[in-house]
Amino acid sequence: MKKKIAIFASGNGTNLEAILEAVKSGKIKAEVPFCFSDKPDARALERARRLGFHTETFRIQMFGSKEKYEQAIVTLLEKHKIDLVVLAGYMKIVGPTLLDAYKNRIINIHPALLPAFKGATAIKDAFEAGEKETGVSVHYVTEEVDGGPIILQRKVEVKSDDTLESLEQRVHETEWVLYPEAINLVLEKS
Ligand code: GRF
Repeated sequence: MKKKIAIFASGNGTNLEAILEAVKSGKIKAEVPFCFSDKPDARALERARRLGFHTETFRIQMFGSKEKYEQAIVTLLEKHKIDLVVLAGYMKIVGPTLLDAYKNRIINIHPALLPAFKGATAIKDAFEAGEKETGVSVHYVTEEVDGGPIILQRKVEVKSDDTLESLEQRVHETEWVLYPEAINLVLEKS
């Protein structure tokens, strides 16, 4: 039976789109019962709907606490019998309620060669530090932000004529290839 994955995104959703395309073309052998966003107006949700996928969304502010918000997420995940949670630009730190319920079953993509350049501005930080190479990492999510075990990494060269924008573009293009590969790796192991 096919494994079930849920994709979480807060923003643009280019990674979400790359993953959904890989699911549609059969490169990822999994079902996606729903995509979730904590931002009802996220572009990511439009992309998911356009590709014919079901979406779910609610804001943390609708709940009294992060615990209650995450409990609602866990209820949704369990209802749809989700095996793996795939974070793709989900801009909330995952708290203990969700982490404990989905231990070792949440993965994330980060635009740097972890453990270098953790945090929300990783591409810019690597560029401004004058690195000759940076990259992309897919890792398990633990309580340490951007700190869980690495699943797959790929290097991206920083060229001498790169601008931040051209580097960002190449890092993102690498993400769109690497994330589907990493999801397949995880699904094969589980
Ligand atoms: C990506 O760079 C990802 O590595 C990071 O957030 C960004 C999301 O981009 N976690 P998008 O929303 O998939 O376009």
